[in-house]
Amino acid sequence: MTTATSNATAFGELSVPDLLCTSALTREDLDRIFATAAALKAGREDHTTNLQHKRLAMIFEKDSLRTRFTFEIGMQDLGGSATFMDHRDARLGSRESVKDMAKNLERWAHGIVARTFKHKVLEELAANAGIPVINGLSDFVHPCQALADFFTLTERWDDLEGRTLTFIGDGNNTCHALIHTAVKLGVHIRICSPEGYEPNARVVNEAMRTASETGSEVTILNDPEAAADGCDAIYTDVWASMGQEDEIEERNGIFADYQVDAALMQRAHPDAAFMHCLPAHRGWEVAQEVMDGPQSVVYDIAENRLHVQKAVMVLLMQ
Ligand code: CP
Ligand code: NVA
Repeated sequence: MTTATSNATAFGELSVPDLLCTSALTREDLDRIFATAAALKAGREDHTTNLQHKRLAMIFEKDSLRTRFTFEIGMQDLGGSATFMDHRDARLGSRESVKDMAKNLERWAHGIVARTFKHKVLEELAANAGIPVINGLSDFVHPCQALADFFTLTERWDDLEGRTLTFIGDGNNTCHALIHTAVKLGVHIRICSPEGYEPNARVVNEAMRTASETGSEVTILNDPEAAADGCDAIYTDVWASMGQEDEIEERNGIFADYQVDAALMQRAHPDAAFMHCLPAHRGWEVAQEVMDGPQSVVYDIAENRLHVQKAVMVLLMQ
């Protein structure tokens, strides 16, 4: 966490010192991130020196393709550098305390991106580091993903408010981030999971309170067809997340009726987008024809991870 001195840039600043969870962001923060990402993506100005001489420390307890590449390339684009530490062989805190790690990193770097199992580890890093900490995915939430997801929708829809996004699958980290973000943006969100795999009740209750202020609706259901009916986008994610490898076989059985296939897509609005954070398991949570079909925006989202995270870094680290 940085002290609230100044993150001000030509793009403005965020109301928070770290990005741990999109639930902590205001509507203005979200609009600012999207506007900054759009400007960076359009290349309207030269942004190759915005983070000149700034260093990003990246520590990952789990695998990654998109998050790792987009943060590293993003720092290069902005004139800074990123150093990656593969921490897959041990949890953070096992060699030295998370606090000491934070106190060291703040002496060398200007920001930290961490991918962890426990969300509390990210909170501990943020509480002890005097530099911004960005959540590159925890078991609880995946905020950078949700920012790229909704930024992608801003490119398709003139107005997000009143649109309906349906998430079909496990009530996991990606799902939580989508719920947190949708309600801030006035997007209606339906979550459809098998019984026992619904999103965290506290996330849902908090989202319902926010939704009552922003006009969005949060609906939790178990029937994929009802969930898909007339919606503007269908989203899915893996049935077993990283760390749940032992449950894959069991989950493949439990989630078998929750595959997003062409028949399910047909229940949605004809222009509905198909969304997935990736990596995807074709033939499991998504049918091949949907993944590669004309409604799929999965690679647009992957591209936008870069632009959105560059925006976040500029707004937090400049
Ligand atoms: N969507 C996403 O975060 O991808 P990676 O796990 O490859 O980073
Ligand atoms: N829910 C998935 C997301 C991967 C980007 C996982 O945590 O493995």
